[in-house]
Amino acid sequence: EKCVVAVDGPSGSGKSTVSRRLAKRVDGVYLDTGAMYRAVTWAVLQAGVDLSDPDAIAKIALETELSIGTDPAAPHFAANGTNVDEPIRGVEVTQAVSAVAAVPAVRKHLVALQQAIIAGHPRIIVEGRDIASVVAPDADLKVYLTASSAARAARRSAEDSADVKATEADLARRDKLDSTRKTDPLKLADDAIEVDTTGIGIDEVVAYVLNLLNS
Ligand code: CDP
Repeated sequence: EKCVVAVDGPSGSGKSTVSRRLAKRVDGVYLDTGAMYRAVTWAVLQAGVDLSDPDAIAKIALETELSIGTDPAAPHFAANGTNVDEPIRGVEVTQAVSAVAAVPAVRKHLVALQQAIIAGHPRIIVEGRDIASVVAPDADLKVYLTASSAARAARRSAEDSADVKATEADLARRDKLDSTRKTDPLKLADDAIEVDTTGIGIDEVVAYVLNLLNS
């Protein structure tokens, strides 16, 4: 039977780790929509396009051929035939991604791709910012992961071996851009279940969500 789980939340809320584990546990696939925005951003930067020119950004987004991995054990991404797993996590892409994701034509294009992928898989865990509200409003379960900004910065800086203060400032910068953009700002869907992961281990969060799924 078809099962779609939406996992939304800000950076460092544990979305990726929780979503990948969930996908393995339900023997389903995993879709990282943030990685799609990051891969398009990589292509935009490669093309040397002006980040203040939405039409130019949209043109590149539509021309970019994305290969989107959905295996929770190894979700590899390529753009125009180049593997981008490393560069999409780099500072250049992280700095530019909110601007690219704010372009309506980019969102329209990627949301359509996401919906096609969801339609093609019986069991899928979809991670992002607007999954419950826009991409999969009919999802079987909608989870919104949160954590204190200090906890989120601690997790993300450990992953990136970066300075905690600088990471916290960068997360605050992106949260603000993502939540105040005109198209689909990051917000909690009315019917999403909010799970605060501050001080809670990943295993516990996964067990909690699996429980919700089975109830
Ligand atoms: O995990 P982290 O917050 O670092 O980022 P991500 O999930 O990889 O998403 C990167 C960026 O893509 C976010 O800051 C948003 O600007 C954008 N994004 C979006 O607009 N909509 C989504 N469904 C997913 C990501």
